[in-house]
Amino acid sequence: MFDTTTINKFNSIPTPFYYYDLDVLKQTLDAVKKESDKYNFIVHYALKANANNEILNIIKAYHLGADCVSGNEVKKAVECNFAPGHIVFAGVGKSDAEINYALDHDIFCFNCESLQELEVIDELAKAKNKTASIALRINPNVNANTHKYITTGLEENKFGINLWELESVVARLQELSNLKLIGLHFHIGSQITDLTSFKSLCIRVNEIQSWFISKKITIENINVGGGLGVDYHEPDTNRIANFEAYFKLFHDFLEVRPGQKVHFELGRAIVAQCGTLISRVLYIKKGLNTNFAILDAGMTELMRPALYQAYHKIENLKKYQDAGSKNQDEFHKYDVVGPICESSDCFGKAVNLPETFRGDLIALRTAGAYGEVMSSAYNLRDRVKAIYSE
Ligand code: LLP
Repeated sequence: MFDTTTINKFNSIPTPFYYYDLDVLKQTLDAVKKESDKYNFIVHYALKANANNEILNIIKAYHLGADCVSGNEVKKAVECNFAPGHIVFAGVGKSDAEINYALDHDIFCFNCESLQELEVIDELAKAKNKTASIALRINPNVNANTHKYITTGLEENKFGINLWELESVVARLQELSNLKLIGLHFHIGSQITDLTSFKSLCIRVNEIQSWFISKKITIENINVGGGLGVDYHEPDTNRIANFEAYFKLFHDFLEVRPGQKVHFELGRAIVAQCGTLISRVLYIKKGLNTNFAILDAGMTELMRPALYQAYHKIENLKKYQDAGSKNQDEFHKYDVVGPICESSDCFGKAVNLPETFRGDLIALRTAGAYGEVMSSAYNLRDRVKAIYSE
């Protein structure tokens, strides 16, 4: 990932910046395609993970659909030439303007999360003399066993229509003549590494489908969302997520009815490993019990550690240059922090690094998903830039 030419290039660019290795992205997409095509599964890329034009253009070339959660994401997908017939639009709080925009572009499907939302989409579609295709996002009450902030499929979460509401929602749906029910949608959470959570989802979806069949309602599409996790600890050993096991699990446990299509919405597993946040050490400072390595990147560039105590592997890039030198065996412990005026602006405590000096380049790995898109201008910081491998 970081050969001498690449590091020399980094040295000539002002830090901090995101570096995207497009070969890694393409290898990941090759694996997604190979494994999902085995079962004719349809994969939508979740733009919320990374919405860079370069990245989107590559993903689009692999003929993935687009999973959007705001009007601007729908707009971005349309501008990047994702076919409107392959765009899905989810989110608990779609505004009228966002719905109207999506209606005007005849997107494939609105994933609807409440009864009132269904009524509003029906009304807005009627005003345009259109029929909106919708899927019911059902909260399956399945535990994703992941961080509580990125768990979405439990009744206590705000997402989706709860199972106990289903009867009344389906009854009301019959009266909403400008809506066409084309599918069911589920998403239980993100960074899921224990595949048994997906097995539990399949079992719940099978039960829910049987209920619809008993009501003589045909469901053409089942969308099982995203959530496949990546290895933040060993990004080089496990560069590509285990798409083979993931898709096979749905093939084995999901009861697919004749003619039915199965959809996925993957974000993190597609883009996480291709992105790295590159920054420079500004200062080394002695603390009471530790040394601080103060970087020129902080929570404004990569918010995940501050927000979710998320782990990102931290490397001093000289490890790729001084290979074999004795310096490599001598580790020192540093609290690696950013420059922002918040104590939570810390990327890692007691991190083992070779002796580190002002000016050294530091890599925060596995930052391609939910990194740059969640960056901010807090403290009036410049917005972070991105560079790409050739
Ligand atoms: N579909 C829906 C309805 C979603 O809400 C999400 C993610 C996805 C698909 C894509 O999930 P993925 O395959 O990327 O796990 N900012 C957090 C992650 C938030 C995920 C939100 N929803 C983080 O940095 O970990």
